[in-house]
Amino acid sequence: MEKILITGATGNVGLSTLKLLQSRNYPDVEFIAAVRDIERARKIEGISDCNFCHFEFDEPSTYEKVLEGVTQIVLIRPNQVSDVSKYIFPFLAKAEKVGVKHIVFVSIVGAERNRIFANHRTENHFKKMSIPSTILRPSVYMQNLSSLHRLDIKDHDRINIPAGAGFVNYIDVRDVAEAIVAILINPGHKNQAYEITGPESFDFYQIAKMFSDDLGREIKYAKPSTIRFVRQKLHDKKQLLYVVTLSLLYSAARNGKMNSRNDVFESLTGHTPRNLVDFIHEYRDCWIKSDPLGTPKKSLKRLRRPRL
Ligand SMILES: NC(=O)c1ccc[n+]([C@@H]2O[C@H](COP(=O)([O-])OP(=O)(O)OC[C@H]3O[C@@H](n4cnc5c(N)ncnc54)[C@H](OP(=O)(O)O)[C@@H]3O)[C@@H](O)[C@H]2O)c1
Repeated sequence: MEKILITGATGNVGLSTLKLLQSRNYPDVEFIAAVRDIERARKIEGISDCNFCHFEFDEPSTYEKVLEGVTQIVLIRPNQVSDVSKYIFPFLAKAEKVGVKHIVFVSIVGAERNRIFANHRTENHFKKMSIPSTILRPSVYMQNLSSLHRLDIKDHDRINIPAGAGFVNYIDVRDVAEAIVAILINPGHKNQAYEITGPESFDFYQIAKMFSDDLGREIKYAKPSTIRFVRQKLHDKKQLLYVVTLSLLYSAARNGKMNSRNDVFESLTGHTPRNLVDFIHEYRDCWIKSDPLGTPKKSLKRLRRPRL
């Protein structure tokens, strides 16, 4: 019997992984969602029947219970938890002590060469551990566009990302979850590292056009400088850590380091990853403007000015 523990279980990747494991209903696989607030997690659509266990990286008293009988861990480091020596490594030491057999660590593309990423230090730490690990390095999440950048697109008709003319490869977090589950369920992935990508890379002029075509109104690429972006976000009272993380990510894109594309996802799962155009269409409601009565403005605009 496998017992799989998923950290960051209410976030982008963790939630998709839970939903996938639940829908596939593997025999001899039990999974536990490690969450900070069980009552809140139970209310999330699609996972109410999961097994939950209270867990906080910054609360070592929660480690022992959550690790009881666990054979594999999906380790998702929350962006907020950047002091990995203080909050991630002690948890890994405990996992080692209780005999966990395999850890799938969700890192990020480029982490192996970028010392400044917290995931770089965590990747290196695995080299010193006795537990076999699999490091998964996804490209940038498509869901950033429907969360972090949603209001810029919805309210200001612009993509405000300091990536210059750089190309970015986006992957859907549901595909990251598929890759994780393939690694957990199938043998042969221990002590491997995989970079996984979406099907194509684009610059933000192309991405803005995809939005314009789908939403029926012009979405521009604002192409801010990194300094301007940082100033704007700090002015909007965003957390410094959040702003720095985003700036680093998109500086890498600006320098052409976020555009690689490979077939690893296909090899792991046997099918092609989701593409950005379909993602924008599927999630389009979150970028549609609405008036106070809730009528989508897009449809009014279309009636007045049909697109040729
Ligand atoms: N964004 C990207 O484009 C991208 C691309 C590749 C890789 N990554 C990597 O993906 C990881 C983030 O994954 P994600 O986007 O799925 O996460 P996310 O959506 O930001 O969610 C973070 C999760 O961690 C939980 N959490 C926060 N603080 C915690 C704590 N102190 N103890 C225990 N749990 C805590 C949150 O729980 P609550 O619900 O309680 O807040 C939530 O479930 C990062 O390591 C990042 O480097 C990101």
